[in-house]
Amino acid sequence: MRHLISPLDFSVEETEKLLLLAEDIANDPSKYSKVCDGKKLATLFYEPSTRTRLSFEAAMLNLGGSVLGFSSADSSSAAKGESVADTIRVISGYADIAAMRHPKEGAPYVASLHSTIPVINAGDGGHQHPTQTLTDLLTIHSLKGRLDHLTIGLCGDLKFGRTVHSLINALVRYPNISFVMISPEELRIPTYIRKEVLDDKNVPYKEVEVLEDVMPELDILYMTRVQKERFFNEEDYIRLKDRYILDASKMQYAKEDMLVLHPLPRVNEISVEVDKDPRAAYFKQAQFGVYARMALIMILLEVGLC
Ligand code: CP
Repeated sequence: MRHLISPLDFSVEETEKLLLLAEDIANDPSKYSKVCDGKKLATLFYEPSTRTRLSFEAAMLNLGGSVLGFSSADSSSAAKGESVADTIRVISGYADIAAMRHPKEGAPYVASLHSTIPVINAGDGGHQHPTQTLTDLLTIHSLKGRLDHLTIGLCGDLKFGRTVHSLINALVRYPNISFVMISPEELRIPTYIRKEVLDDKNVPYKEVEVLEDVMPELDILYMTRVQKERFFNEEDYIRLKDRYILDASKMQYAKEDMLVLHPLPRVNEISVEVDKDPRAAYFKQAQFGVYARMALIMILLEVGLC
């Protein structure tokens, strides 16, 4: 039995297989409409979500399976003090696979230690969000045709943005990747990622504060929301939240084939006028999330694979 707790739980080769399966699903979803007949997915969400929870549910329903779960800690027995370990022991008897989002870093990992069904980390605090990474990789692979030889701009809250942490971990495994990290001083990438992931692997990167200066270099611009829920101090959030706003005037500096990605939800960091730019790929990205999660469920449940 396998879990997905970190994007590194799958090798590059396994990730490639998952992406090819997801692309095949995207081309003809009806081929896979019964592969999870009789299987159940539990969505255990202790934090708010629209895309991750509902795309997991759509994925399982598209595969012919069923879903059950809760969408907030308040509506589960966590509100009465139940531990993640006890919850997953019980859910293991109700479902075949579980996706868990939790505000505490490491909670899905703890669940995996006590589970008899595959556990998927659907986002743990400011730590990791591996299924968003599979979604991001699928989007880049499908729209760019490659995961190598790319300059990727990461813009916004690089300190608390778990999607950025997971994406860096995944992309450094491909050749000729470089990063341009665009953030205010206070929201720079955590030191452990800079040292243990980028420096140790000799991955080229630079850290800057002005988005316009680096726009012409980028193949991908990955915008992120300032993570209000992870701030200790509302004043700091208010001061930093609108630091970067991508608008049509800034898009003029970008390559003609640059992709704009964003894990969503967005607040103000991408002006709605950018939505009609053909380089804006964030709503396609959300759709790719369903196909990536369908492929992941099939692989972890070992169903419908040749
Ligand atoms: N991208 C993402 O995780 O979105 P949700 O918080 O809506 O699930």
